[in-house]
Amino acid sequence: MNKRIYLSPPHMGGEEIKFVQEAFESNYIAPLGPQVDAFEREFTDIVGIPHAVALASGTAAMHLALRILGVGHGDEVIAPSLTFIGGVSPVIFQGARLSFIDSDRISWNMDPDLLAEELKKREVVGKLPKVVITADIYGQCADMDKISEVCTRYDIPVVSDSAEALGATYKGRSAGAGARAVIYSFNGNKIITTSGGGMLLSEDKAIVEQARFLSQQARDAAPHYEHTQLGNNYRMSNILAAIGRGQLRVLEERVQEKRRIFQYYKNALSDIPGIEFMPEAPYGQSTRWLTVVLIDPEKFGATREYVRIALEIQNIESRPVWKPMHLQPVFKDCPMRGGSVCEYLFNRGLCLPSGSAMTTDDLDRVIQTIVDCRKKGTEVPQLAVDYGQRVSPRITQN
Ligand SMILES: Cc1ncc(COP(=O)(O)O)c(C=O)c1O
Repeated sequence: MNKRIYLSPPHMGGEEIKFVQEAFESNYIAPLGPQVDAFEREFTDIVGIPHAVALASGTAAMHLALRILGVGHGDEVIAPSLTFIGGVSPVIFQGARLSFIDSDRISWNMDPDLLAEELKKREVVGKLPKVVITADIYGQCADMDKISEVCTRYDIPVVSDSAEALGATYKGRSAGAGARAVIYSFNGNKIITTSGGGMLLSEDKAIVEQARFLSQQARDAAPHYEHTQLGNNYRMSNILAAIGRGQLRVLEERVQEKRRIFQYYKNALSDIPGIEFMPEAPYGQSTRWLTVVLIDPEKFGATREYVRIALEIQNIESRPVWKPMHLQPVFKDCPMRGGSVCEYLFNRGLCLPSGSAMTTDDLDRVIQTIVDCRKKGTEVPQLAVDYGQRVSPRITQN
């Protein structure tokens, strides 16, 4: 059996162990400690947003951002449909309702024109959302200036879900800059990982300080435990922050490696009829966290699912583009504006293995398997073994 090629596995840089060692030697094993402080400081220096709090996950970061911006029962929050559930489920945790917007074709992220239409309609009926969430999927930024401009008209704060876009730029700024709050994820499949973790950032110190307070069970200043409100247990541990510090040192290298992988696939596959690559919006630089292709079954001669299963048979992990949130059973009652773009992307899109440690041999194996699928028709090949047993839970959480 060929060695398995994963979608985007962790890739350590080497220095992580040194910082973990420091954490052990200082005995700051329990949550918080100097590694967390240093990780937050070094992170703000890299992304250029002044205030940051390191948290247990990107989902926790989004939850606190929404909570602090006052999202609660009866409120509505607008979000893109084409995203991962962790960036939107906190809306429901807060007892608010979700309403979704389709993607544009330039970035695959929230379409600013559809957002403008939606807000205009809502203003008339007096139902403006409390917050607008944007997402920067697959390493590419949403059109933040356009989205901010629309939201500023109605005084609605924007929270940027930049979980997948650390290292990406928008008009020279970091992903999420310009939003009221920004979240990142260090989940195992992200461009850098702490094995699990997240960060909440803002230009507004008060937002970050409030998140810091809430993330530690909202303990008031007192020698005993005193609580005037309910908090969460959402802080990042000192050990995980140590891993994050090592990973930050190779972030720029990882961005270059991801982009190199994209270019390698593109050189090999872009002349094949029926294969199209995710575009790069002209306003920024994508990290190409995952290389994503669209497969036109008529022109290519095989469906996206055919290709995915053929890769799986070769022990290669790939994944359909995010299933839009408005198609998820759990969100079946949520309103949706548009939908044809993200449904099209979901039906044809495939995320190819994009691990930054992939070798040329690995890439050639993926490419050859895809090329061999041409003109094979639409009948999906049978997997020889149970799919579930072939997937490592370690890195396939999302
Ligand atoms: C777009 C997006 N939002 C939110 C999250 C949630 O982050 P976490 O897994 O760290 O909770 C992820 C990924 O994991 C994501 O890809």
